[in-house]
Amino acid sequence: MSSANLLKIVGHSGRGAVLICCAMLIGTPQVMAGDPVNGGKIYNQQCKKCHGANGKSVLPGVADFSRGEGLLKADSELLKKIRNGGGMMPAYRGTLKDSEILDVITYLRKLRR
Ligand code: HEC
Repeated sequence: MSSANLLKIVGHSGRGAVLICCAMLIGTPQVMAGDPVNGGKIYNQQCKKCHGANGKSVLPGVADFSRGEGLLKADSELLKKIRNGGGMMPAYRGTLKDSEILDVITYLRKLRR
């Protein structure tokens, strides 16, 4: 196909197609996707002592991640929670990088069965 024809097609498809193109490239959902294997490693080192193997909390009154509790929030909310801690939970800002926390969040979301 000549480049003139290609230009015509691009011209005809208009701005909408260009926007769809950009949206696919930026792809919001994929940006936050972490590595669940690395997340699992971190979880076992840092979180298991309180949140238990497979997310079944060993502390009373704490969300049971194996039942999906406490996870009906955006990744950004969970990230904030894990960064800042609260109550008995330590803050992980400084201990874990944001990318590592996102890996853990990805792992948490896979615990539900
Ligand atoms: C010393 C014990 C302890 C450790 C270690 C710990 N947590 Fe927690 N976590 C808690 C407690 C207690 C709560 C509930 C209190 C609260 O929400 O402030 C909680 C709450 C949470 C919540 C919010 C659940 C909800 O219902 O809103 C998330 C998410 C979470 N922890 C993830 C993690 C992750 C990920 C790690 C490891 C990087 C971790 N925690 C390590 C004790 C701990």
